[in-house]
Amino acid sequence: MPITTCVFDAYGTLFDVAAAARQAAAEPEFADLKDSWPGLAEHWRQKQLQYTWLRAITKAHTDFWQVTQDGLDWAMEKTGHANKPAMRERLLALYWELQAYPEVPAMLHTLKAVGLNTAILSNGSPDMLEGAVQSAGIQDVLDHCLSVETVGIFKPDTRVYDLVGQKFGCSKTEVLFVSSNGWDAAGAAGYGFDTVWVNRAGDPVDRLPWQPNTILSDLTGIPQLAGV
Ligand code: LAC
Repeated sequence: MPITTCVFDAYGTLFDVAAAARQAAAEPEFADLKDSWPGLAEHWRQKQLQYTWLRAITKAHTDFWQVTQDGLDWAMEKTGHANKPAMRERLLALYWELQAYPEVPAMLHTLKAVGLNTAILSNGSPDMLEGAVQSAGIQDVLDHCLSVETVGIFKPDTRVYDLVGQKFGCSKTEVLFVSSNGWDAAGAAGYGFDTVWVNRAGDPVDRLPWQPNTILSDLTGIPQLAGV
């Protein structure tokens, strides 16, 4: 069935999650991040994601803003930056205005120009997503921002992927789902979407029961995969 609907994960896929630590490290006030920012960014992301999975399987849901703060607190302590409230505040503020990857606006414009549906489907809370979308200036080329907060559980619970069909009235096989998170691409493939894993880092494929249909190194090939 032809693709009618292109759905994107947000953090790591459209928005560069390392940008907050990288940007703070370039500011004179936070020069002590100069060498440690890559490790801080990596630990922050990994803990943030682990907390989503743990909260899902223990039925202890909270929103993505809370796990983002919890992950940062762990990462700051791990990398020698505990008890630095100004740094914490700056890193969290930057998370609301993460840079989009450079190819994102043109790619979304191309999809909308031929009448395809476009959406974000993210763990992010609605206000976080709105902040990132506005800051990247891509609100006009996205039809919807779908947040897990509607169902109160994080990805890859299938109730999250159900939100796409509920919003657009389309079948699973009409959906091209795009994520830079290997586990999210795998979960969506198991659910039944046509799935793309955006593997910018050249990482190994996750050892899970499902595999993405396509692996790309960035988002420029998405319109072609969607039949444009
Ligand atoms: C999201 C996380 C997984 O945007 O990056 O859903």
